[in-house]
Amino acid sequence: MIKEYIRLIKARGYMKRNIPFLYSWHAYVGYELDLYEAFKKPKTINEVATENALKEDLLVRWVEVGGVIGYIKQRSKQRHQTVNRFMVPSSKNNPRSTGVLLKEMMELHIPTLINYPKLMKSTEKENFNQKEHGMVIAQTSSLLEQLAIPRVMKVVKQAKPKTLVDVGCGNGGYLLKLSQKFPKANMIGIELNEEVAEEAQNKCEQQKQINIICENVLEWKPDSKVDFVMLNNMLHYLSPKEREKLFRNIGKWLNKKGTLSIVTPLHNSKHGGPFSSVFNSFFTAFENLYALPSETDLEELAKAAGLKIKKMKPVIKEGGWYQFTLSK
Ligand SMILES: C[S@@+](CC[C@H](N)C(=O)[O-])C[C@H]1O[C@@H](n2cnc3c(N)ncnc32)[C@H](O)[C@@H]1O
Repeated sequence: MIKEYIRLIKARGYMKRNIPFLYSWHAYVGYELDLYEAFKKPKTINEVATENALKEDLLVRWVEVGGVIGYIKQRSKQRHQTVNRFMVPSSKNNPRSTGVLLKEMMELHIPTLINYPKLMKSTEKENFNQKEHGMVIAQTSSLLEQLAIPRVMKVVKQAKPKTLVDVGCGNGGYLLKLSQKFPKANMIGIELNEEVAEEAQNKCEQQKQINIICENVLEWKPDSKVDFVMLNNMLHYLSPKEREKLFRNIGKWLNKKGTLSIVTPLHNSKHGGPFSSVFNSFFTAFENLYALPSETDLEELAKAAGLKIKKMKPVIKEGGWYQFTLSK
């Protein structure tokens, strides 16, 4: 009898712990189909289903869940409306919508984590499709950028570089902000993904001091020595061997008083353990993504580059993200 009771408590526990998933699921579907926008003014389910060519029975369920969690309100017998709540993502048409993070979580992270039993038994791993996911990742990275940029600005201000290289520059968000603050510095962004590099190019078009190069950074070298190198959120794209190669190269690119600034989540960090452990579970599932570096790994890499870690500051504590400043 007691055993049966414990079994039920456990099952109820799993169900209760899963309730927060409902909020993320609802927000993801709402973002992906722009449904919060469709219900911005009170509308019937039939109207929205017809206008957007959606299955009405499924839309009914989504609206029902929205009602339960307080994201959608019934305004009359037939009409429903989006509630103006903090956690409801803004429209897909808004390039600053936080919905991209839900998209990355739901389409990339969760399916990969669910695939773990299969992957563990298989001799193969998943292959990360840069082309398919590159843009969404560049967009979610720009959310982190907003939190890390004040710290990066401070480090750049102290270094006063005339030349700066952003390795794996994504859509150029850091470069754009830095160029507005430091208009005299020459800036180069190296980005492997063509579509992302094009976006960076367009974003930074007005800033003549920025040059975006679409190339594998492992094959690239500057024409002359540089003062500052940035490496933001890209170490997990490189194998330990490639990391070492890159750091050795960066050591050669930098002039004597040069600075390397790294922003990365850290393995086994003091802060953000749950986040970095799940991040690592995700990365390790791919043959072409790699576990996050630990502080000791970064010290080793710094040594290979002839550099020393001078400062280390958390930029997003709950995520285990740190900024490192290195120099000779
Ligand atoms: C997670 S994004 C971060 C973008 C940006 N640094 C930021 O923090 O917002 C990492 C970027 O590095 C680029 N990347 C990965 N491997 C690269 C390589 N070998 N050479 C150049 N870029 C690379 C990816 O295409 C991706 O856009």
